[in-house]
Amino acid sequence: MTSKEMQRDFLEKDTALMRDIAAQLGRPLRYHVATFGCQMNAHDSEKLKGILTVCGLEESGEDEADLIIYNTCTVRENADQRVYGRLGYLSGLKKKRPDMKIALCGCMMQEPHVVEKIKKSYPHVDLIFGTHNLYTFPELLYRTFTEDARIVELLDSSNESAEDMPSERNYAFKSGVNIMFGCNNFCTYCIVPYVRGRERSRTPEEIIAEVKTLVSKGVVEVMLLGQNVNSYGKTLEPQVSFAELLQQVADVEGLERVRFMTSHPKDLSDELIEVMKKNKNICRHLHLPVQSGSTSLLKKMNRKYTREKYLELVDKIRAAMPDISLTTDIIVGFPGETDQDFEDTLSLVELCGYDSVFTFEYSKRTGTPAATMPDQVPEAVVKERFARLLETVRRTGEKASGRFEGATMPVLVEEKNREEGLMTGRLEHNIVVHFPGTPDMIGTIVDVKLDSCKGFYYLGHRV
Ligand code: 5AD
Ligand code: SF4
Repeated sequence: MTSKEMQRDFLEKDTALMRDIAAQLGRPLRYHVATFGCQMNAHDSEKLKGILTVCGLEESGEDEADLIIYNTCTVRENADQRVYGRLGYLSGLKKKRPDMKIALCGCMMQEPHVVEKIKKSYPHVDLIFGTHNLYTFPELLYRTFTEDARIVELLDSSNESAEDMPSERNYAFKSGVNIMFGCNNFCTYCIVPYVRGRERSRTPEEIIAEVKTLVSKGVVEVMLLGQNVNSYGKTLEPQVSFAELLQQVADVEGLERVRFMTSHPKDLSDELIEVMKKNKNICRHLHLPVQSGSTSLLKKMNRKYTREKYLELVDKIRAAMPDISLTTDIIVGFPGETDQDFEDTLSLVELCGYDSVFTFEYSKRTGTPAATMPDQVPEAVVKERFARLLETVRRTGEKASGRFEGATMPVLVEEKNREEGLMTGRLEHNIVVHFPGTPDMIGTIVDVKLDSCKGFYYLGHRV
């Protein structure tokens, strides 16, 4: 039996087991999956939910769940702290309901010191598994409900993936699609290469087949996911570039929108810009993390581009697609960041005209080169710089996002707004739009006149 067949076998065993437990309880079993990380992490959660749904479990709030799964992130330390904090709360919950099961997975579990701490200080955790063990979840689920001892399953890497497992999409009309896993870049602040392992790409055939299946089930928008999509295909034989893959995806009949995330500026090709420009269904949005506007800091971060190269790239992209939305990530307080380095970051933000910027205080991650670099920036300085950056980002972001005021544009309707009678959707530029509408519009693309920009979103009306 192949490992895939074995997991399918466990899926059947799980279904029977859950049915038995539910019969004893006189109600279906309930699960709660909490997602702490990025889009890839959220996509993994969808897979967990899919498997649990197939096995007959129902989704619920944390307090009512028979199985709680925390899908963790470790990119910054505060994400770790949130998990520890919530584990404390779960210990109280489990005292009241000793039969409930608690599972932890995701990137944080790929760090040995975290797993040691959980083993020692959080005895109420029943199952720990890593990002490379996702495809064995049916088996782990079975063991969790049939064995008494705590289960810990961690791998450093794996060639198996959980792509063809059932998954439960958060939205019926849009879905993430993994195109590659891992990262080879080793930015000096980043823990990801250590926890997610080396780059591996799925074949174009596999990806296109998945996209076609999604479209046949009513999906109109896919987001291609990878830590650095621009190095897609380098490990494949024969090599396939990301631009080639993107063209193939854009050609899938019936697919209205294609997005992708994340692009590393060091290897965003002219070919990719061409493909974006040529295809109307590739969204006019690029998330292009810059991290810093200072060349000397970029060098210390091992980003492999300079301030000038990044600005040139932005110019090239804007020349090809003048209305494109650009977004970015910026880290404040990287070791050695001087006042001048920080001023360079502020001026770069002014020059790039980002729609939005995700701002992060530098977080020291044990095991990364930056953790032991000299000149760690004092907290008070980081806070002061962070506040100044936020102010710049808010001002420039409002200006950039307002550029479509008065225009009529297609909006993919995503959900009901909290305010009665309003629906919420997105422009292909990833900007949020609220407008009067009805829930039957969800999943369709409608034309909306963008009456007024309220900072980072629009209010409009259907035309
Ligand atoms: N400290 C702060 N921010 C970080 N990021 C990654 N590692 C760290 C760190 N150690 C940010 C980067 C990345 C985003 C996903 O998280 O900006 O692009
Ligand atoms: Fe995503 Fe990185 Fe967080 Fe993992 S550590 S969930 S890959 S952001």
